[in-house]
Amino acid sequence: MREFYPLLVVGGVVGVFSIIFIIAYLSIKDKKTALGFDRNMKDSEIARRLLVYAKPYIPNFIFVLVLMLFSIAYDIASPLLIGHIEEIISSDFKMKTLLIYVAIYGSILLVSLLSTYIQSIVLQKVGQRIISSIRMDLFSHIEGLSHSQLHHIPVGKLVTRVTNDTNAISMMFTNILVNLVKNVFVILGVLSAMLLLNYQLTLMVLCFVPFVALFTVIFRKFSRKAYRKVKDGTTDINTYLSEHLSGMKIIQIFNREEKKKAEFDEKNRRLSRSKKEQIFVFGIFRPMVYMLYISSVLCLLYLGGRGYIRETEFLGQTIKASTVVSFYMFISKFFNPIQTLAESFNFLQSAFASAEKIFTIFDIKPEVVDCEDAIELDTVRGEIEFKNVWFAYVGEDWVLKDVSFKIGAGETAAFVGSTGSGKTTILSLIVRNYDIQKGTITLDGIDIRKIKLSSLRRQFGQMLQDVFLFSGTVRSNILMGLDGVSDTEVDEACRYVNADRLIAKLSHGLDEEVRERGNNFSAGERQLLSFARTVIHKPRIMILDEATANIDTETELLIQDSLEKMMNIGTMLMVAHRLSTIRHADKIFVLSHGVIKEEGTHTELLEKKGRYYNLYRLQYEKKV
Ligand SMILES: Nc1ncnc2c1ncn2[C@@H]1O[C@H](COP(=O)(O)OP(=O)(O)OP(=O)(O)O)[C@@H](O)[C@H]1O
Ligand SMILES: [Mg+2]
Repeated sequence: MREFYPLLVVGGVVGVFSIIFIIAYLSIKDKKTALGFDRNMKDSEIARRLLVYAKPYIPNFIFVLVLMLFSIAYDIASPLLIGHIEEIISSDFKMKTLLIYVAIYGSILLVSLLSTYIQSIVLQKVGQRIISSIRMDLFSHIEGLSHSQLHHIPVGKLVTRVTNDTNAISMMFTNILVNLVKNVFVILGVLSAMLLLNYQLTLMVLCFVPFVALFTVIFRKFSRKAYRKVKDGTTDINTYLSEHLSGMKIIQIFNREEKKKAEFDEKNRRLSRSKKEQIFVFGIFRPMVYMLYISSVLCLLYLGGRGYIRETEFLGQTIKASTVVSFYMFISKFFNPIQTLAESFNFLQSAFASAEKIFTIFDIKPEVVDCEDAIELDTVRGEIEFKNVWFAYVGEDWVLKDVSFKIGAGETAAFVGSTGSGKTTILSLIVRNYDIQKGTITLDGIDIRKIKLSSLRRQFGQMLQDVFLFSGTVRSNILMGLDGVSDTEVDEACRYVNADRLIAKLSHGLDEEVRERGNNFSAGERQLLSFARTVIHKPRIMILDEATANIDTETELLIQDSLEKMMNIGTMLMVAHRLSTIRHADKIFVLSHGVIKEEGTHTELLEKKGRYYNLYRLQYEKKV
């Protein structure tokens, strides 16, 4: 009995730790959701959809699997070889045999290293391709969403989907899946090799497996909790950052720096606390598996050593020195993959959660789409008609009520009215940013819902209320990807809309850098650039939603002059706040709460002495 004391000590230590962990496990309450995300899709569905992206690369994956056999072969062959070398040294020593074995070992190692290297190159390439096609699909899907759908998803969230979440999936293809497969094979291979070497010692090693399984289950519960906290904290910080960085100017104006700093500090601390918790969980799990490993090594040395010394024989297998050496190496090759497997499952779960979030976005069906028999329009005359149009952004909250009007080809129409009366809405309906609920909108007599979206929008040049410039150069912002335009044409367009003086003032001219959202340009300058952008695209119909921003008188005159010129290009629909701008319009519509109250030319409306007349007087008197 006494000879089993060392084994009892090992068993006791392992048992005590197990009991402590089981108690901790039972006392922790954990939500049942996987990693804190409300999962709606089945894992099988996510896997099926991911497979669609992986399908073109199946040959590559098969190639990797074949290469993997070489690296696994090393894991299994090397302990056996080392065992043999040990035997050669301890018995009748022959230098030549030793050298041969060392050479064999070296070659296997080399082949395995090489195959691992090629594997990772192939996988990285495949992973990047898969991920870039998912990213591409996601981006073009988002491009196809209607304005109202886009309003419902915060930009920060979309960015996270396109970047972070696709990265998690990439990790899955390049790393996790392959390691999972490899580890399963290594475990099976090592187990078979051990069984062939010695049943008893293998059984001894297997005694530790239930404990590894137990620790893994416990670890997963804790790590899931820690992981969820980290993920929540990261999202929290990201959302806070994206909102506050864009609103930084307001924070400074209202002197709220200290307060915001304190808020950020709190979020920052919370994230770092949960990160530490996560590290702590891993910090406990890894040494625990290591403890099991060491315990099994101790048992091996004790039992194997005794067996060797006493030359024990069991079912025809004697324990040799080489058996002990090989087993010693096998045990580490056995425990390593088990530990990695547990961790890989966590990553896999997180990748699936990311995939689900991406697929949820894919599942949003674009609202404004081409109808089946949509027609292509080459050139249009530019006649626009609204017939009894009713429109609401939400439910029955009508923003436009029974609006009808007709604008002839080449005419200039202007919409005026108080703020919120529906002017911008009318302009966005013409280009089908939203679909109307009742009535029809026609372009050259054709219902715009029957025209292909791309060919409909190609006819329009839109200058919106808040001019959006992209980071890049002045030139890239004017061209917006238009090919085959010479600098002379760009210059001409700029001169046409009076933006030439602005560009001459810039130290790099057309190559002047435009920073994010064009914030290194004034509102008036941005507007002039947007005019140039529109003119160069030579649209048949122009839409202008003038900003209310204060523009200095000089720029105002420039804008007015260029607008008058642009009126000659084609049909023009404009919303202008300065009535002087629209004096020359062919038709003026006065809107109030989504209803057209008055229409006519500037002179006609003044004579009417109605709403327009009052508006005009208000502005005129203010100026005087
Ligand atoms: N995306 C939206 N979702 C819901 N309601 C909206 C949306 N956009 C505008 N509205 C509402 O529709 C109404 C008309 O808005 P619209 O932007 O057409 O006004 P506007 O006449 O252009 O005003 P302004 O002169 O201030 O630009 C407003 O009451 C506004 O609150
Ligand atoms: Mg508006």
